[in-house]
Amino acid sequence: MANPFKPGAGRKPPYLAGRDDIIRSIKNDMKQVYEDAEGMRPIVISGLRGMGKTVLLRELAETAHHQDWIAIEVEASKHDSLAKKLAQATYVELRRIRNSSRPLSSAFEHALAVLRSFQLKIDPTGSYSIGIDINPAKGFADSGDLSLDLVDLLKAVGEAARESGTAVFISVDEFQEAPQEDLAALNIALHTLGQGSAPVPVYFVGAGLPTLPAVLADATSYAERMFRFYSLNLLSEEAVRKAYVEPTEKNMIKWENESLEAAIQAAGGYPYFIQQCGFCICEQIDFPGTITKSELLAGIALAQDEIDRGLYRSRWDRATPKGKEMMRAMAEDEVPSKLSDVADRMGKKQPSDLSVLRDRLIHDGLIYSPKRGYIAFTVPGMNAFIKRCSD
Ligand SMILES: Nc1ncnc2c1ncn2[C@@H]1O[C@H](COP(=O)(O)OP(=O)(O)O)[C@@H](O)[C@H]1O
Ligand SMILES: [Mg+2]
Repeated sequence: MANPFKPGAGRKPPYLAGRDDIIRSIKNDMKQVYEDAEGMRPIVISGLRGMGKTVLLRELAETAHHQDWIAIEVEASKHDSLAKKLAQATYVELRRIRNSSRPLSSAFEHALAVLRSFQLKIDPTGSYSIGIDINPAKGFADSGDLSLDLVDLLKAVGEAARESGTAVFISVDEFQEAPQEDLAALNIALHTLGQGSAPVPVYFVGAGLPTLPAVLADATSYAERMFRFYSLNLLSEEAVRKAYVEPTEKNMIKWENESLEAAIQAAGGYPYFIQQCGFCICEQIDFPGTITKSELLAGIALAQDEIDRGLYRSRWDRATPKGKEMMRAMAEDEVPSKLSDVADRMGKKQPSDLSVLRDRLIHDGLIYSPKRGYIAFTVPGMNAFIKRCSD
């Protein structure tokens, strides 16, 4: 029998634990968008790496697909235009619908033509041409102002969805990575879309690191009021227990009481650890079987090793010697570090002496600033790893 646990970025867990509240809340929003055929306030989900943002987005997209929504899924990256990615993903989705046997409305044809205009405007040379064999819609999405053109595109796609009694779901993962102008343009477009009397049924979800709210606020001042913010935190012990037990029960694997408790402790509420530990523990037994203490210990040791190599070591190696020195100074704290404490430990006169180094580590995604004057690691447990290494 296959191991039920799924360690690794974005892999759907066998049991999605402890996210019922947020899922319920977002699905209620989606239901309302669908039933009223009207847009709603866009949302943003932030959390540390491995907290389960990507699998949550996938779960929402799946719901949208089940209800025949137009579902546009994008992952932003530093060096790629978000507009191009959105255009591409929109095209893939519209083509899928066109190839299905559904009758197509004139609004749908119009959306394709607007997408064609949009695409020609952002990529005039056609270097990444996507094969839309349709004439561009003159006067739509061709102003050259990205935010206005995005409004045209989203309106047209939204109208097409409304015509056929569905709605549009848009997700942007790693949203904080999007180039600043693209991010601002999308904010403005979403803001504009929400202004009219009957906004088109578009539901937008952005996800990213805890820096995301600040990144959005930097891009447009009203972002704080425009988005509804959710954050994904560590899971409760109860949720972790379920995340272990549900999948193992299904596979006729039993836990000795003590083993289960130890596995829960080892996960520390961190979804990524649950999958890694669960997987490595299950590697130790023959199915169906019982997880005893010795198998548990062997599994956890293996998981620890995998996590050190896969999660921590790669990050640690990315830092410069000076960066490492600063991270070592941070590792003395269990909670976010005060920049002034870190400066003291490093023998600096004042916190501002660390500005350049701090910005570099933030840019490299190794640390972030949870609030003014504080810094923290972007993955849980990094401090323990650094201490382990230094000992
Ligand atoms: N609620 C959850 N319950 C159990 N496992 C989860 C949960 N959320 C995420 N995971 C697991 O954690 C790992 C990281 O999830 P991912 O969505 O990639 O995190 P993020 O996008 O926040 O970095 C994956 O192995 C995934 O299966
Ligand atoms: Mg992710």
